[in-house]
Amino acid sequence: MDHEQQPETIAVLGAGVMGAGIVRTFVRGGHAVRVHDPRGDAAEAAAASAGPRASAHASLAEAVAGATLVVEAAPERLELKRALLAEVEAANEHALIASNTSSIAPAALAAGLADPSRLVIAHFFNPADTVPLVEVVPGPATPPAAVERMRRLLEGCGKTAVPLAEQVEGFIANRLQAALYREAMHLVARGIATPAQVDLAVTAGLGPRWALAGPFEVMDLGGLDVWTAVADGIFPSLDDASEAPAMLRDRAAAGALGAKSGGGFAPRDLEEPARFARRLAALLAARERLDADEQRPAS
Ligand SMILES: NC(=O)c1ccc[n+]([C@@H]2O[C@H](COP(=O)([O-])OP(=O)(O)OC[C@H]3O[C@@H](n4cnc5c(N)ncnc54)[C@H](O)[C@@H]3O)[C@@H](O)[C@H]2O)c1
Repeated sequence: MDHEQQPETIAVLGAGVMGAGIVRTFVRGGHAVRVHDPRGDAAEAAAASAGPRASAHASLAEAVAGATLVVEAAPERLELKRALLAEVEAANEHALIASNTSSIAPAALAAGLADPSRLVIAHFFNPADTVPLVEVVPGPATPPAAVERMRRLLEGCGKTAVPLAEQVEGFIANRLQAALYREAMHLVARGIATPAQVDLAVTAGLGPRWALAGPFEVMDLGGLDVWTAVADGIFPSLDDASEAPAMLRDRAAAGALGAKSGGGFAPRDLEEPARFARRLAALLAARERLDADEQRPAS
C-alpha cells in the first residue's frame, strides 16, 4: 500500500449500489469526497454513510469543480454516460475521469470527450467498499501514467488494483465468472445437478481455494501434467453457447430477478445481499489475519 498519498478531492457521480461503496472507499483512504446524484436523497445517504469527509451536492458542476479525480458510477447506458462526461469536461478541465462501467468499451466513452486521454476505467466489485479488487483499464488514448496514478490511489485506499494492458469485454474477473456461470447453467440444463448442488460444489470446494490461490497457482499446486490431462479430457465437452441460456433469459423475462424480486433460481429475501456483504467482510478479515500471521516472524 502507498502511504505517501496526498489527500485528494474526489467527485463521485451516481450514489446507487456501487457509488455509495465507492464514496466510503475513498473517504476511508483519507480523501475528501463530493457526491452528486439526481436523486438527492441517494447522494445524502451515501455521504452520511461515509462520514464527515463526504458531502452531497445537488449540482454536478459544483461537485466536480476543483476535483482532482471524478469517478462516474451512473447507470450503464452509453448515451447517459456520454452526456455526463461532457458535463464533467465543461465543469472541470484537469481532473482524471474514471468510469466504473462494467461493459462499455472505454473507446466508446472517450469518443465523446474533447480530451480522451483523461478517461480510465476503474471497475469496482459489489460491495465496492468490501471486495478488494478494482480492475484498471486504459482506453486507446489513456497514458500509462494515468493508469499508474489510478492504481496508486486505489492501493492507498486499501484496494487491490489490477491494471489490464488493454480493454476486453468483461475485463478479467467477469470473463472468468461468465465462463463458470455458463458451465454451471449447462450442467443444470443437462440434468446432471441442481442449482443448489452446483452452488455447493463452489462454496464447499472451489470457492475456499480461490480465496487463497488463483487458477495459475492452483494449477501449479496440482501439477501441470495433471492439468494437461484435465484440459484434454474436459475441454471438448464444455459448453460453448454464445448467448444467455433459456433458464436465465426466461426467468429474467418473467420478473424472477433474484433477491430484489423475491427470488430467481431459488426464493430469496431482500435482506440477503446485506447479509452476504457482512459475511464476505468477515471472510476477508479472516484472510487478512491469516496473511498477517504468515508474515510475522516465528518467535
Ligand atoms: N451493480 C454492480 O454489481 C456493478 C458492479 C460493477 C460495476 N457496476 C457499474 O457501476 C455503474 C452503476 O451501477 P449501479 O449498480 O450502482 O447502478 P444503480 O442504478 O444502483 O445506481 C446508479 C445511480 O446513478 C444515478 N444517476 C442517474 N443519472 C445520473 C446522472 N446523470 N448523474 C449522476 N448520477 C446519476 C441514479 O440516480 C442512481 O442512484 C454502472 O456503470 C454499472 O455497470 C455495477
